[in-house]
Amino acid sequence: APALLVAGAGGLGIAYASAVTDTSGEIDFKNPLNVPPLAESTVDAEGRRVFELTLRSGSRQFKDGAATGTWGFNGDYLGPTIRAARGETVLFNIHNTLGETTSVHWHGMHLPPTADGGPHQSVHAGTTWSPSWKVDQPAASLWYHPHPHGETARHVYRGLAGMFIVDDEESAALALPKTYGVDDFPVIVQDRSFDGDNQFDESSGLFTNVGILGEEILVNGTYAPYLEATTTRVRLRLLNGSGSRVFNFGFTDGRGFALIGTDGGLRAEPHGTNRIQLSPAERAEIVVDVAPGEKVILRSYAAEDLDIDPFSQRFDGGDDVFDVLELRGAATLTESPAVPGKLVDVPKLDVDKSTETRKFQLSGFNLNGKSMDMDRIDFGVEKGTVEIWELENGDQQFHNFHVHDVQFQVLKVNGENPPEHLRGWKDTVYLRPGGKTKIAMEFKDFADPDMPYMCHCHVLYHEDQGLMGQFVVLEKGQKVGKPPKDGGHE
Ligand code: C2O
Ligand code: CU
Repeated sequence: APALLVAGAGGLGIAYASAVTDTSGEIDFKNPLNVPPLAESTVDAEGRRVFELTLRSGSRQFKDGAATGTWGFNGDYLGPTIRAARGETVLFNIHNTLGETTSVHWHGMHLPPTADGGPHQSVHAGTTWSPSWKVDQPAASLWYHPHPHGETARHVYRGLAGMFIVDDEESAALALPKTYGVDDFPVIVQDRSFDGDNQFDESSGLFTNVGILGEEILVNGTYAPYLEATTTRVRLRLLNGSGSRVFNFGFTDGRGFALIGTDGGLRAEPHGTNRIQLSPAERAEIVVDVAPGEKVILRSYAAEDLDIDPFSQRFDGGDDVFDVLELRGAATLTESPAVPGKLVDVPKLDVDKSTETRKFQLSGFNLNGKSMDMDRIDFGVEKGTVEIWELENGDQQFHNFHVHDVQFQVLKVNGENPPEHLRGWKDTVYLRPGGKTKIAMEFKDFADPDMPYMCHCHVLYHEDQGLMGQFVVLEKGQKVGKPPKDGGHE
């Protein structure tokens, strides 16, 4: 394997040697896929749906031999799947028993900045944070994870993440697989590396210019998982829950599947394909056909579109291939309805109305040449307006870009109309080395001159190192204020 010295990409200068990881055909899929339980909730006197989430440390038997030390929500690893319907007001009591400060961010959610769970909403050790908001967005597969500044990668790597499913009337009326754990499954895919004692390896030896690239795969916290389908079609809510890895999912027999949803909701109509590439934090909902008695493997193939520079492609792990999950068909299957030809309305944002175009360059650990500063609000957007943001990856390594509070629409990728898999609501978008992507979004509510939302690279190592900016939503004529010192709740 070649030893690479990287100076250009990110200005790092880390010496790194690696061979391509390829686990195809090597995994003995012997563990039934863990399906995270649905979070329990109660309805309080004010009609709010109340959830309790306790962040705690624990251990999980992933592999033969020693158990692995982990962190989780309400359990040892990952967290329960939260479910709430559009129109409901939710309230979370987040108890932090970890012994260090963290936060819990609702990735993809449209909500007030004080409830967002970014780095200003610290949840200190031994305290409880209780955000509440009204869920008001289309049905989607969102997720939640910690967001403490500088520590997000480590907290997520140890196991803090979970899925947040939003339901609405339109999605409930569609003939799609929708019985949780029966024909509708979260599929949270994470790369991890284990040391000789089966502990998560957080050592710098694994570091690359995108942070830790794990060499093994967990799905919903299951090592070497299989999923036995009992219906002729299953819906998989794929989440790339890795800190740094890009996955490019497909099935080993080349079968097609229907892409029915993107980060922020269902598509206008299903799109037939046999590959879906997801960078960290991106989601895709797919429906795949299953035959009785069969076995097929969901594999992550070498990433596409990391092709500007073969040098950086290697360095980003883009050539790696992983066997992820074995999908089995039970001997007899219950017939599922065909995927509807039309799904939901995805109204186009009125970009002609937009009054502001901003440019963002991602380079090294900087956004527009600046490193994240908790005390600096980088810009303000006006409530009720549509904005166009031009994102440019100034490096020969990949980045991606996530915006809090909104779901955006991709207008152009390198000057071309977006590919099918980017048509639909998105909150995170992959940026190829040297690439340019234009997005549009509307800031509907929640003006607050002092409490920022974040926008950042979702390669968690880059985010932690400073590739993040802060913005506030303002009433017309209002001025950008000052972020709180420790915007914690106490
Ligand atoms: Cu998924 Cu700012 O985060
Ligand atoms: Cu990045």
